[in-house]
Parts: sequence; structure tokens; C-alpha cells
Amino acid sequence: MDKAIATGAVKKISVDQLRQGMFVHDLNCGWMDHPFLSNQFPLESKADLEKIRKLGLHELYIDTSKGADVGADVSAVAESDVQREISAQLEAIAREAETPTAKEAREQEFARAKKLHTEANQIVQHMVHDIRLGRQIETEKLEPLVENMVDSIFRSPDALLPLARLKDHDHYTFQHSVSVCALMIAFARGMKLERPIIKEIAMGALLHDVGKAKVPDEILNKPAKLTDAEFSKMKSHVVQSIIILQNTPGISQIMLDVAGQHHERHDGTGYPNRLKGNEISLYGKMGAIVDVYDALTSERVYKKGMPPTEALGKLLEWSAHHFDPDMVKLYIKSIGIYPTGSLVRLESGKLGIVLEQNPEHLMQPNLMVIYNARGEHYIKPENLDLAKSGCQDRIVGYEAFDTWQIDPERWLNPGL
Ligand SMILES: [Fe+2]
Repeated sequence: MDKAIATGAVKKISVDQLRQGMFVHDLNCGWMDHPFLSNQFPLESKADLEKIRKLGLHELYIDTSKGADVGADVSAVAESDVQREISAQLEAIAREAETPTAKEAREQEFARAKKLHTEANQIVQHMVHDIRLGRQIETEKLEPLVENMVDSIFRSPDALLPLARLKDHDHYTFQHSVSVCALMIAFARGMKLERPIIKEIAMGALLHDVGKAKVPDEILNKPAKLTDAEFSKMKSHVVQSIIILQNTPGISQIMLDVAGQHHERHDGTGYPNRLKGNEISLYGKMGAIVDVYDALTSERVYKKGMPPTEALGKLLEWSAHHFDPDMVKLYIKSIGIYPTGSLVRLESGKLGIVLEQNPEHLMQPNLMVIYNARGEHYIKPENLDLAKSGCQDRIVGYEAFDTWQIDPERWLNPGL
């Protein structure tokens, strides 16, 4: 645990209490919702303070061991208390899990999913290239891909989802679109929406960021804080997506909703239209949740990817303002509290990778146990289904791959 957190130095404060001289520990919003390079920095200038105030945040975290504190008369909550509360909420959601949906074995699906994932990234890459050249999107080329992705997730979501999480730094934008598409299918499947609707949602997800083709790479990949003009340009990708899609034959209202509303926020602080609550369609709400989740869990050149369970906790925390709380709960139930591909720590001190969800026991997924954290060494990989009767071990928390220098690619995409 971070020393600052352990000593209670990290506090959640309201944005009105933020002052110059404080150290921002976490802006408490998705990275596409602010222009700063990192979520952590000393707040030195008045201009940055103003910038943060204009973002529409309600609360954020400061680290009082690195900067000024709030006055003694101000009530602030220690981050450790927030995290305890969030963990309890996540577990309560997991316990409400419903009956399982029929699925085939993950192993049978894995080879197909792997091929599909490579193909999807290539198709999206070509599509972005075509848009940059001013060509029209050929939706008929995307339809079989979307169909195959829906089929794959319906056979076994545990094959494609962890693959989609892996991204390389050079191709983030395309890979993010493919990943959002896969996650949206899983979300819609969890909500028991009808297949034709799910296909439209998936197509909208695949196309949600096409407007980024109109944003210069220097801004998309800038390794520093964006200027006001650059941040506006970055945000304009949503309007650009809408324009492109309105001029594309075969685009439905559902697809437009996913793409055009994925940056709207439940409290009306999002963009481009500052829509609020139920002014945002079901599909826009889903898009916002999945887009932020995928961005949080993805590794970028200048930021580490967050463990999936931690990202789900953030969504839950932010659902106080930014997301529809009921939708966040449905999302967590759809992908599990320890999503497939997560690294978890067991009571026995072993570390395991989540291979497969047991939908009726979200706290007890099927694992591949690979590491002994107490002895700090690898062990012979072994399958462990925590939901099987007689299994003595249980998950006590999630871990970051980085902490243990375990390469996620090796386990999530074997045979690369
Ligand atoms: Fe976006």
C-alpha cells in the first residue's frame, strides 16, 4: 500500500476546497476528461487551478504529504476510507449475480478469438487510414466483423475480452475501438438485449472514435499537458465522429447514440451537448462507461494501466456524478468483479490470472495459478476453479502485473 494512503495523507476534497500549493493525487475522472498529462501533479499556477475548476469535477484527491492540506475546519475523507467503502460495494454487487448464461469452453474459442482480434485491428486501422484520405466508411466491410465478434462473445466472452485489453503503444486508437466494441457486446449481452440491437451497439462502438482521424496525431499522442486549444481540438473528435457517421450509409440511430454520446456525463458536465440523466440514451450511457473503463485499464506511453477491479471501483465512485449508477452496476455484473485477464492474490499467498468467470459466483472465478507471492517465485501453472466444491482458497484482492514484473502478454496471449 502507498505510504501516503496508509498514513491517511491522501484525502478526497471538494473541488471548491482546492488551492494553489496543494498536490493533486488524482483528478478523479477519465484521462480524456482533462488536459493534464498525468492525474498527479503539484498545483502551482492559478491558471491550472482555473482549468481544473472548469472541468466540471465535483471531488478530487490531494496528497497532503506532498503539498498543502485543507484547513482543520474542513471535513475531508481519507482515501483509504473511500476504498474500503468501494470494495464493500463491489462485493455486494458481485453477490447479486444472476444465473449463468450458457457458454462454450474458453479454450475452444481462444484460437478463433485470436484470429478475429488481429483481423479487427487491421480492419479498423485501414478504416481510419481511409477516413484520413477523405474516403467514405464502407460499413458492409465492417458488418461481418461485428457479427463474428458478437458470435465469439456469445460463445465465450472469456476468450476475446482479455485479448482486447492488450494494446501496443503505437496503435492505441484502433485497438481501443476494438476493445470498446468487445466490452460493449459483453455489457449488452449481460443486459440481455436482443441480438440485432447488440449488433448495432457493437457497430457504434467500433466507430465511436472515428472522429479522431480528424485530430492530428501530435495532439492525440502528445506527451505533455494539452493547451486549451489542443484540448478543444481533442474534444472535437466527438462532433467529427457524428459528422462522419451522418454521412455514412447504413448508420442507425443506436450507432449514432453510442458514438455521439460517449463523452456525455450523467450530471451534465460532459461534451459535446452537456446532456444530463435520461437525456442521454441507454446506448450513450453504456458507451461512456465502457470508454472510460477501457482507457483506465489500458497502458499508454506515459501512464500505467489500472487493474480492472480498481477501474470498476473508480466507475462506481464516479457514478455519484458522472455515470448512471444502475448502469455501472449492470456493467460490473456483466464483466465480473475480477474481469477475465485480471491478476488476483489468493489467501494462500499465490497469484493467479482470471481465465473464466463463473457467472453465478463472481467472487470465485476460474484461475490459472502462476506465482507464489510470499516466496516471490513462479510456480508450475495450475488451473484452479474457485467455485468448485472443496476448493479451500479464496481471492483476497487484486494485483497489478507490474508490481510482480509479470508480463500479461505471456499469459493472456500465449503463443504470440
Ligand atoms: Fe472518445
